[in-house]
Amino acid sequence: MPKIVAANWKMNLRRQSAVELAWALKSDGRKCWLFPAFPHLAPVHDALIGSELTLGAQDVSPDADGACTGDVSAEMLADTGCTLVLVGHSERRHGHGETAELLARKLKRALEAGLKPLYCVGETLEQRKAGKAQAVVKDHLSTLAGTEGIAAVAYEPVWAIGTGETATPGQAAEMHAFIREELKKLGLRLPILYGGSVKPENALELMSHPDVDGVLVGGASLELTSLRAIDDAAREIE
Ligand code: 13P
Repeated sequence: MPKIVAANWKMNLRRQSAVELAWALKSDGRKCWLFPAFPHLAPVHDALIGSELTLGAQDVSPDADGACTGDVSAEMLADTGCTLVLVGHSERRHGHGETAELLARKLKRALEAGLKPLYCVGETLEQRKAGKAQAVVKDHLSTLAGTEGIAAVAYEPVWAIGTGETATPGQAAEMHAFIREELKKLGLRLPILYGGSVKPENALELMSHPDVDGVLVGGASLELTSLRAIDDAAREIE
């Protein structure tokens, strides 16, 4: 299976730079998954027409259309041309205190609207140091019980996000093998991406392991040259 390269642009870029990046990736024949900020979804969608790039949102409301000021519903995202959505990213799970119960509702709404969630899991440094990394990830994965239509799982150790510190290929491979086993117990077979300070310098080694099906890239996905280099690494392995 070809390795997946997903770009989480987080709360970065301006409309014009997001559209230019999308155009450049399209002209280059890339097949990445792109997650721009909400205000950039529509213009990026238009830029991607005729390409093999896939559009996703970074979050979704747990509720259907209605009186939810500031929220964006799954139907609105689908209507804007999104086919994917991030659910459970640590910057929401920890940064905004999103609970397992809330994430289950988001997954349900996304799936009902025909969006495919990219579901993120990962332990904090404290949890890893306490020897609880696998237990925490197992707990995060349990939210997927009974679901159908998930695009992929992303393992993003919180201590590696935006810190410049990457999980070693060994640490990533070990957790990915564990996640695969846990998913199997839930009756799920899904691609498992690694995220956390992925850069052109470490992408090839990380993705070389058969249990790492791709990468979810933050900071290094904001520049065409580095995103292209990471995607080149992915294509090298195929
Ligand atoms: P960085 O690549 O900036 O560490 O971010 C990773 C991430 O959170 C992707 O979702």
